[in-house]
Amino acid sequence: MKKSFATLVVAAVMLVGCGRGDGRLTKVSLDGEYAHKVDSVLKLMTLDEKIGQMNQYSCDALVTGPATRDEDKVQQIIDGRIGSMLNLIGAQKTREAQEFAMQSRLQIPLVFGLDVIHGMRTVYPLPLAEAASFDLDLIQRTAAGAAREAASQGIHWTFAPMVDIARDARWGRVMEGAGEDTWWGSRVAEARVHGFQGDDLSDTGTVMACVKHFAAYGAGIAGKDYNTVDMSDVTLHEIYLPPYEAGAKAGAATFMNSFNDINGIPATANEYIQRTLLKGDWGFRGFTVSDWGSIGEVVNHRYVADLKGAAEAAVLAGSDMDMESRAYVAHLKELVEDGTVPMEYIDDAVRRILLKKFELGLFDDPFRYCDEEREANTVLSPELRALSREAGDRSIVLLKNSSVLPLAEKPGTIALIGGLADSKADMIGFWANQGNIPAVVTVREGLEMRYPSSHILYAPGYDFESGMKTHEGEHLAQPVNPAKIAEAKAVASKADVVIVAVGERGDWSGESKSRADISVPADHQLLVQELKKTGKPVIVLVMCGRPVTFGDMEPSADAIVLTWWLGTEAGNAIADVLSGDYNPSGRLPITFPRVTGQCPIYYNHKSTGRPENDSWQYITSYTDVDYTPAYPFGFGLSYTTFEISEPKLEKSVFGMDEQIKAVVTVSNTGSVAGRETVQLYVRDEVASMTRNVKDLRGIVQVDLQPGESRDVEFVIGRDDLGFYNQKLEFITEPGEFTLMAGSNSRDVKGTKFTLE
Ligand code: GLC
Repeated sequence: MKKSFATLVVAAVMLVGCGRGDGRLTKVSLDGEYAHKVDSVLKLMTLDEKIGQMNQYSCDALVTGPATRDEDKVQQIIDGRIGSMLNLIGAQKTREAQEFAMQSRLQIPLVFGLDVIHGMRTVYPLPLAEAASFDLDLIQRTAAGAAREAASQGIHWTFAPMVDIARDARWGRVMEGAGEDTWWGSRVAEARVHGFQGDDLSDTGTVMACVKHFAAYGAGIAGKDYNTVDMSDVTLHEIYLPPYEAGAKAGAATFMNSFNDINGIPATANEYIQRTLLKGDWGFRGFTVSDWGSIGEVVNHRYVADLKGAAEAAVLAGSDMDMESRAYVAHLKELVEDGTVPMEYIDDAVRRILLKKFELGLFDDPFRYCDEEREANTVLSPELRALSREAGDRSIVLLKNSSVLPLAEKPGTIALIGGLADSKADMIGFWANQGNIPAVVTVREGLEMRYPSSHILYAPGYDFESGMKTHEGEHLAQPVNPAKIAEAKAVASKADVVIVAVGERGDWSGESKSRADISVPADHQLLVQELKKTGKPVIVLVMCGRPVTFGDMEPSADAIVLTWWLGTEAGNAIADVLSGDYNPSGRLPITFPRVTGQCPIYYNHKSTGRPENDSWQYITSYTDVDYTPAYPFGFGLSYTTFEISEPKLEKSVFGMDEQIKAVVTVSNTGSVAGRETVQLYVRDEVASMTRNVKDLRGIVQVDLQPGESRDVEFVIGRDDLGFYNQKLEFITEPGEFTLMAGSNSRDVKGTKFTLE
């Protein structure tokens, strides 16, 4: 298509805007009680002290990146050369570090950060698992619970929520976000920011949030971590940026930029996203922190020649605090003194950092979060454990059930197979470094507590080392460890029902954990098939941090329960669902492919010129695998059944600015109470840009008794129907649309309407 001159001009401005400083400093607007206080401190500070505030080091005890050692950190704190520490935990240890800061000339308090991603000592389900609950209130409550526990341990700031949209399950960090959908990811971002921060950052039960990784870190080519991100500006704005914007608009105190480059510009040195968008258009008044060493890595990107160039590029682009690359402390003073970096850029960064320390109440009382009694009363409290169990219940997704679940009240002898069912450490998954592992309830313990009168037999079923190899496509005929499978079959033959736990190890999904083959290990698949030969009902628990492919085991499973990694109360939550004490209500926040080769795969794709269908071979598909996913976005079963009507509209033609109210009737057509997540999708039938086949624009959850029906209401407007055009203008065009309602992205009923 011939680009118009205007388009080329806009694109040129975009590229310039993405690149090195175009000199536009987006100053933070200070108002209210802190404006005077921040500036009264700023004017007392030397340049060294200002640069010190922009410097963050990790404590040596817990390292979450390639750390370098500085034995004299204490002296640097006293000299005012460090503004923040990460990975320092505990009321007592943070008090000690803060006492050193109080020896500095201006006594500016340190701010302590930590990756409280899905809990602190009490661990909640992975964020991807919690996203499967489709319960925003729950998601906000677990963030608030995590904040309470973290703050009681001296933490002021969590490096969460991670809001990176991920469409490729080969990327290990899919576990850390809310999945593939932009609308849902934006809602979860808002809920988690509100949960972490509450209404008052000075409340010693709240912490600063940190929206990350800015931006589009989940779009690395081929699902490889840290990899190149290269996409159209339209896709960047339509699919990847909205959750960050939602987090900013929700009031996030901080942002963390990302390791990747975006269309040729490293995010850490990317002025367009950090200044033009975040601090400019989105009105962000907080501060940005680099990811671990990412300022220094601008050199590795070969975007600058050396660390001094990296410091210059990053600070001009809007990176306010340097995590662990030591670029700022090494070079900013020289860059300011030789006029390369105007002092106003330093002052703006320091104002932003000081503003948050004032809002945290740290200038009033630097030790307000260092209360060992509050710590003892908060950590692993019964209410936090109960919250973790509730979240576990709601995160579990029932993928298959040929009426073997729920278990009978007296299930007889249970054969529990699989080392994962007896492992505490795996249950907390990745990014739970501070989780209390001895406190974790395993599946085995959960079942023993739920069924005290049942005889629960156990066998490991596979070897945790040799038995974890994946062989997608090779369909291994022989198990690596036949003796373990034989032992498991012998145990199963004595039971009335078999429950087998398969999948990943708890640390298989996470940072630097991309996998080129996301299949369940071959020995696990063979184990399930062999167990089925005993003739017993076989219930498969899939334990993982990402979508995995089931290969040959699926037909042998009478039920498949996706448990993810559920955290401290994993065993109890799984027992709640297997027993029917909780009727599973989870829905997939990310598509499960049949084979890895389908990645990236997501529901809101384009039609293409040869849309997917079953009637013709010349379509957008493969010759060796069905084009559909194994389980679509939004999918999940219940122990009951639901009927969802098409959306009902009061008329069929609406004005551009009219609100469109759609009513959907949901009925529980089964025999037990249950929760349904009604999903509303929109589709622009014909537009001046190719549009997705559907996009999620609303969910409503309803709890219904058997036989009960209820009308649920959705209200959408023009912005729900809009898209970015080639000029990056967000527009909504008149024409025909379809509203679709359903229990997942595949099984929907539609109603057409016209927008004038
Ligand atoms: C890691 C992660 C980031 C985390 C930071 C501090 O490399 O990319 O998400 O917050 O370093 O641990």
